[in-house]
Amino acid sequence: MTDTLMADTSLFVSLQQKIDSCLDSLLPSVGSSPAELHEAMRYSVLAGGKRLRPILAITSYQATGGKGDAIMAPACALELLHTYSLIHDDLPCMDDDDFRRGQPTLHRQYPEYVAVLAGDALHALAFVLLAETGNSDIVAEVGRAIGTGGMLGGQVRDVQAEGKDVTLAQVEDIHKHKTAALITASVKLGAMLAEAPSSTIEMFEAFGRKLGLAFQIVDDILDIEGDPQLLGKSVGADNRLAKATYPKVVGLVRSREIAARLIAEAKATLADFQNKEVFCHLADYILSREH
Ligand code: IPE
Ligand code: IPE
Ligand code: MG
Ligand code: MG
Ligand code: MG
Repeated sequence: MTDTLMADTSLFVSLQQKIDSCLDSLLPSVGSSPAELHEAMRYSVLAGGKRLRPILAITSYQATGGKGDAIMAPACALELLHTYSLIHDDLPCMDDDDFRRGQPTLHRQYPEYVAVLAGDALHALAFVLLAETGNSDIVAEVGRAIGTGGMLGGQVRDVQAEGKDVTLAQVEDIHKHKTAALITASVKLGAMLAEAPSSTIEMFEAFGRKLGLAFQIVDDILDIEGDPQLLGKSVGADNRLAKATYPKVVGLVRSREIAARLIAEAKATLADFQNKEVFCHLADYILSREH
């Protein structure tokens, strides 16, 4: 079951349900061959999650005049890529985590090689769905966001920084790459598919960068003071691995202040945008979230 994002906002709950059913239909069907790999893909994707990245893409599509359901498959591709990143992030060679989305991590439930390959398979399926938009700028945008200049660059530096003394600039750099890059591409994707003017896409880029960095700072904070039941994942993992996090570098109080400032700055980037309300609501949620 999907975590309820902003339970008081039926718009987002219904979006999550629509995303879940779209993901179900896009994933290889139960029992199709290779059965264990397909089961593993479905196990991780359909376990839930906030669906933040597809929600951002759908919201930006609609807010820039995009009509109909053409956004659904590429938006779901973002969730497949995010889920692949979580499966690999949890592996023993990376963060070595046992719980994710309220259930055992994929490599705890299936053989490790199946977890590696399920991540790879989600990655491949995502690019098929992105290519089916017929928009090569979108394919390239997402490819860059998750590549060595984006998410994977951040992930490798995240592991390399374990146990080291890091500066605020270094942890900011890690978080901008490992997390903010895909979130930024998600906000941009909807506007790109809706063929919004480049000034609007640039505005969303600025918004996404601030929002994405704040999102990871809140993730760091929740790893210290969050409730594992609500989070659906173990807490204390960052401390165990001496990860480069905001609380480690600047403490909890300052981390909260920086996250709040980034959210205010994110909202300010949309000051002149007519349909900003829904994004401001999402930004506030990201700051106050408990999971
Ligand atoms: C967790 O992402 C990993 C980070 C990038 C911080 P989410 O907090 O979006 O996880 P789900 O998708 O809701 O499970
Ligand atoms: C994960 O960051 C970022 C990516 C998966 C790209 P974390 O390692 O902090 O995420 P959690 O805390 O395991 O969800
Ligand atoms: Mg990690
Ligand atoms: Mg992790
Ligand atoms: Mg974390």
